[in-house]
Amino acid sequence: MRTFWPAFVLFFKIRIIPKKTHDFFFNVVSNVIKERESGIQEKRGDFIDMMMALKDERDDDDEDDFRITDMVIAGNAFIIFLGGFETTSSTLAFLFLELAAQPDVQEQMRAEIARALAKHGAITSDMLQDLTYMDMVIQETLRLYPPFPTIQRVCTRPYQLPGRDVIIPPGTIILFPTLGLHRDEQYFENASSFTPDRWRRSPPPGVYAPFGDGPRYCIGKRFALIQMKCCLAKLLPRVFISPVTDRRGPFPVDLKSPMTLHPADSRVCLSLLTPTQC
Ligand code: HEM
Repeated sequence: MRTFWPAFVLFFKIRIIPKKTHDFFFNVVSNVIKERESGIQEKRGDFIDMMMALKDERDDDDEDDFRITDMVIAGNAFIIFLGGFETTSSTLAFLFLELAAQPDVQEQMRAEIARALAKHGAITSDMLQDLTYMDMVIQETLRLYPPFPTIQRVCTRPYQLPGRDVIIPPGTIILFPTLGLHRDEQYFENASSFTPDRWRRSPPPGVYAPFGDGPRYCIGKRFALIQMKCCLAKLLPRVFISPVTDRRGPFPVDLKSPMTLHPADSRVCLSLLTPTQC
């Protein structure tokens, strides 16, 4: 509804984000803005300061100039928060479920981390780059469980579908079915199975897009990958992940989650490894 008929959602004031969450973010951001405007809080050159500078730059004589209100700043802060935390945490939640179901994959990751730590001495940028099997595990997780199962675009000029008599008029909302393509047998053999080794070869161009594509491609991709690899490199040498019940993927998603793909049941069992097992 939000994707195909945004005017309906706006007219009936249908909530996508729960009121409590909305009020929390708006209050935090507007209090910070007030405190920085009055000098109680010092400027930090962060995201809020940049948005406040844009607010000040607004040309009141230009009717087309977009108004940066506190609500716009709070909305953008929320998007950065959602993009920065929700996506990587839900990816790791699905990854842990798959590792619990596939101890052999887990062991290969642990062995790779041990080799890289022996070579580099600590977790460094170069060490993380050597974790190529971990890259494949993350890619496979994002294939089966892309946090954003679709991406949207609005058509801005008439576009004829190649080889067809169909013209898409401007204003049409286009939905790119990321999850559908990622699980399509036409592009990925045995598409429902979690097989990191499939990433030894690249998939056909244009079918794998967990971070989107084009000029609005995810700005946080590199950060997200480093963040997830750091977490796994720290955690896996110390803990063994096992399932709480005998389950195999693909793991069902929580249908109540409004924005990103989340596991319906993300519980796994973590056991500390003894130094000899590490
Ligand atoms: C596993 C992690 C992540 C995934 C799968 C992901 C995925 C995506 C996708 C699919 C989009 C839309 C791209 C498009 O429409 O073509 C997007 C946009 C965006 N992401 Fe991420 N993201 C992740 C992590 C992050 C992180 C860590 C940050 C920030 C630190 C971030 C910030 C953003 C922002 C600001 C946008 C909007 C870009 C724009 O509209 O120009 N994302 N992301």
